[in-house]
Amino acid sequence: MLTGKLVRLRPVEPADFECLWRWGQDPDVVRWMSSGYPESLEQARRRLAEAPRNGYENCRFIIESLSDRRAVGFVRLRDAKPEVGNAELDIQLGEKDVWGRGYATEAMRLACRYGFDEMRLHRISLDFVAENTAARRVYEKVGFVEEGRVRECFRRDGRWHDMILMGLLEGELRD
Ligand SMILES: CC(C)(COP(=O)(O)OP(=O)(O)OC[C@H]1O[C@@H](n2cnc3c(N)ncnc32)[C@H](O)[C@@H]1OP(=O)(O)O)[C@@H](O)C(=O)NCCC(=O)NCCS
Repeated sequence: MLTGKLVRLRPVEPADFECLWRWGQDPDVVRWMSSGYPESLEQARRRLAEAPRNGYENCRFIIESLSDRRAVGFVRLRDAKPEVGNAELDIQLGEKDVWGRGYATEAMRLACRYGFDEMRLHRISLDFVAENTAARRVYEKVGFVEEGRVRECFRRDGRWHDMILMGLLEGELRD
């Protein structure tokens, strides 16, 4: 169910902790993501080891390339609320050599299908910095529609940027 033609989604293993930390250090990868305060590898290892097991409120997956079984990124459904059946989605392809090959599009479809079919979500939401045109393209291909814009709420390189809000309802996921 969590395997496509290019990638599969699997739980996070301790062997992934260093990759997750390294991706978070890459300025190109985190250009349009909230990166927080600097974190050492040791601090990241401890934080990730203490993370709760996957469940309704926080379900994290490593995106693994099927061609070489390499961890290339992560996708997660977080903050799911049973009252409204809504969860937030985050995705990051940390290995830049795989960008542009359709990996994120397929990983999004697998994660959303899991959210709707197994977690019984009604909607999945996400947000992204307006300048992140590659991310917008991926989300639109999967079926997300724009639902709003939050003005000047993201700070990067001394400038304010708008965030775009998007949503996908069950039944709207595009193959
Ligand atoms: C954004 C990201 C998820 C895209 O992953 P990816 O695997 O390269 O995406 P895909 O190959 O599935 O699809 C990319 C699409 O965007 C298009 N694209 C790429 N760069 C683009 C750009 N600068 N402007 C417009 N479209 C662009 C591609 O042509 C492709 O569309 P197409 O299939 O119609 O040709 C990945 O680059 C990433 O993780 N970046 C860093 C973290 C991030 O920004 N996460 C998301 C926002 S929080």
